[in-house]
Amino acid sequence: MKRFLLVWMMSFLLLALFISVTGRAFASKWPGPQPDLVAGAQLYDKWYAALGVDAPQGDMPLWSRQSSNTRSGAETWRCVECHGWDYKGAQGAYASGSHATGFPGVLEAARMSADEIVSSLKGGQEPQHDFSAYLPDSAMQKIAVFLREGLIDDSEYIHPLSLKVIDGNQAHGKELYDATCATCHGADGTQILFRSEGVDETLADVANRDPFRFLHRTRFGVAGTEMPVGYELGWTPADGRDVLMYAQSLTRGQENAEVTGAGRGSGESGEGTPQTSLWTGILTGLGAFFVTFGSALLILTGLLLAGAAVVVVLRRRQ
Ligand code: HEC
Ligand code: HEC
Repeated sequence: MKRFLLVWMMSFLLLALFISVTGRAFASKWPGPQPDLVAGAQLYDKWYAALGVDAPQGDMPLWSRQSSNTRSGAETWRCVECHGWDYKGAQGAYASGSHATGFPGVLEAARMSADEIVSSLKGGQEPQHDFSAYLPDSAMQKIAVFLREGLIDDSEYIHPLSLKVIDGNQAHGKELYDATCATCHGADGTQILFRSEGVDETLADVANRDPFRFLHRTRFGVAGTEMPVGYELGWTPADGRDVLMYAQSLTRGQENAEVTGAGRGSGESGEGTPQTSLWTGILTGLGAFFVTFGSALLILTGLLLAGAAVVVVLRRRQ
């Protein structure tokens, strides 16, 4: 009987050891948010602000190949001005309008190796696409991490024509917004006004006029501000989309409310979807739970069974 107890204790000790080791292995495999990805996303947004340097003088050399976008100077050096907030360039939101350049998107860059991306930024494919005088290698590597791992296809989240959110959960968006964003932007999104082309915009104006930019900046923050980074908070793109959906419903500025007044307030997105919202909520919750604890639980159960088997075998041999 004493030996039996000893075996039990031994196997439990072994089990505990095993769990702590495998548990740690699992924890280290869990990637968590990558600081380089966030830095890369902010460099993509406005690399000279992210690096804290002055923008180069004059226009980016490639700029002269187009005439539809009449901006000049610093803006022309931003990745986002040519490749878009939706990463689709001429294939996306910048197909037309004042930002249209005809330049390609970078969604395909997700399939390039980090070396190929860095090479492209040093003029490897197109000699005028050369940032090596401005971007240190470390910054190019961070951009590569972002392009390879941080891009999403916005057409999953934002309707390309109506610019409304697809399949969002506005109640969930409100929860996230009130908890994380309202302190600075105000409960109605009017506490910080954004000066854009001579007009003061509320957060709702930005969310409605350029939801792609809103989503990018909600996921990755704005360089040089204290703004929290959704990605670092563990937010999925769908969480960002929900916040965007709620932000689109907040207070519009005077000028913009008049211009885009038509077609708004018809209540087409708010009502009629509580059921799907509840279900996606539950499913997302369950999904997150199993991703985090499921594998650990599986290992634990397996080990317990194995331990029991060992005990049974040893008992038989007595
Ligand atoms: C002035 C416009 C402009 C700016 C600014 C610009 N690019 Fe480009 N980019 C282009 C054009 C045009 C091409 C296509 C070049 C070619 O034909 O190879 C390109 C190609 C690329 C490619 C290769 C895409 C592919 O599928 O082969 C990547 C990656 C890329 N750019 C990333 C960036 C990043 C990151 C930045 C910011 C540091 C940036 N670009 C800034 C115009 C621009
Ligand atoms: C600590 C204060 C703070 C918090 C909290 C904060 N922001 Fe911001 N946010 C800022 C500042 C500052 C700016 C930049 C203002 C400027 O450019 O004039 C900004 C800019 C933005 C922009 C860019 C607007 C544009 O014109 O492109 C978006 C979108 C935005 N915030 C959304 C959010 C969301 C969503 C949250 C919650 C996840 C949030 N912010 C939380 C301070 C904050």
